Amino acid sequence: MNILVTGGAGYIGSHTCVSLLEAGHSVIVIDNLNNSNLETLEKVKQLTNKDLTFYQMDATNEAAIDQVFLNHKIDGVIHFAGYKAVGESVKKPLEYYQNNLVSTMVLTSACQRHGVNRIVFSSSATVYGDNQVPFIETMNLLPTTNPYGESKTISERILTDAAKANTNFSIALLRYFNPVGAHESGLIGEAPNGIPNNLMPYVTQVAKGKREKLNVFGNDYPTVDGTGVRDYIHVMDLAEGHVAALENLTEGVHIYNLGSGKGTSVFELIHAFEEANGVTIPYEIVDRRLGDIAASYADVSKAKLELGWEAKRDIKAMCRDAWNFEKNYVEMTIAK
Ligand code: NAD
Ligand code: UD1
Repeated sequence: MNILVTGGAGYIGSHTCVSLLEAGHSVIVIDNLNNSNLETLEKVKQLTNKDLTFYQMDATNEAAIDQVFLNHKIDGVIHFAGYKAVGESVKKPLEYYQNNLVSTMVLTSACQRHGVNRIVFSSSATVYGDNQVPFIETMNLLPTTNPYGESKTISERILTDAAKANTNFSIALLRYFNPVGAHESGLIGEAPNGIPNNLMPYVTQVAKGKREKLNVFGNDYPTVDGTGVRDYIHVMDLAEGHVAALENLTEGVHIYNLGSGKGTSVFELIHAFEEANGVTIPYEIVDRRLGDIAASYADVSKAKLELGWEAKRDIKAMCRDAWNFEKNYVEMTIAK
């Protein structure tokens, strides 16, 4: 299939391009390089020994998107492009709604106009809010407390309504849990700008000596050891989940949790990282982070049953590959 990948130069997008190319699909990437670098796509080509088409453009630009649909016979779209920093979304709500919602609407209406029916959307476990674990696709969604999370809930609603009106649409709403790690080669991975918000990139920077110690946000949660529990998923498992969704999609809207199904606490992750990589991670317990929940992990039975997909790589592999990438990573200039 010819797959249009928005945000394909980013963290999850670039790994998914590798999986798509390896599965024999053709890839057309559009990315405005707001939070990524062209170099990453060169590495995708190097890793797969295959070519891809790249357009530097904004996914909210309707005329430009239309032109891409005219230039290529597109069979499906994976929509990764968007802003993703929770804290920043509280400070810049309008920018977040503009980018994340308008891009979803522009792409969906382009699909409608050009008769492209397969759409895979990057949603997030954040839409479950503070529900009871494990989170299952049939749960009622709860408020997410920030514009980033709300932009995912609203995008899911937009796509669901679009599919009610156009019954040819085959749409997958993929709710990612916590993507971590990097391609096994260490050539591509997660390279956040500035101080990392998320746990794994912070841990790798502490391991590298770039940061002095990890701040553990609270040890008084009702969890196994008092620290927050999350469902970490290797980014290559996640990438393969996209290929499975694309290849198995049927008409209508289908929601899938993409996670490992296992909860790991902050302390458990630190220990796994130390054991996998033979390094020490100094840490200090500090106050809880505003907006954090105690535990989040997935019920993953639906994706296994309907897509034949499940996560294969364990927490040690995630820690090893995250560190392998960080060790080799030479900071690239992020195009702004
Ligand atoms: P990322 O920032 O690495 O990748 C997003 C890419 O989209 C970047 O390359 C950026 O330059 C591009 N982009 C942003 N706005 C654009 C626009 N208007 N037009 C064209 N390109 C644009 O983020 P990621 O971690 O790869 O996340 C991909 C998607 O998955 C996002 O929608 C994110 O919200 C969602 N998601 C991510 C996580 C996570 O923990 N990383 C978890 C759940 C959901
Ligand atoms: C974050 C986002 C969430 C998003 C998810 C997946 C916030 C508030 N939430 O959540 O919307 O869907 O990523 O990308 O940013 N931790 C520390 N010290 C740190 C960093 C994190 O102790 O320096 C703890 C957190 O309290 C949490 C766990 O580690 O218990 C994981 O944190 P993080 O990687 O930020 O993921 P989420 O909290 O799931």
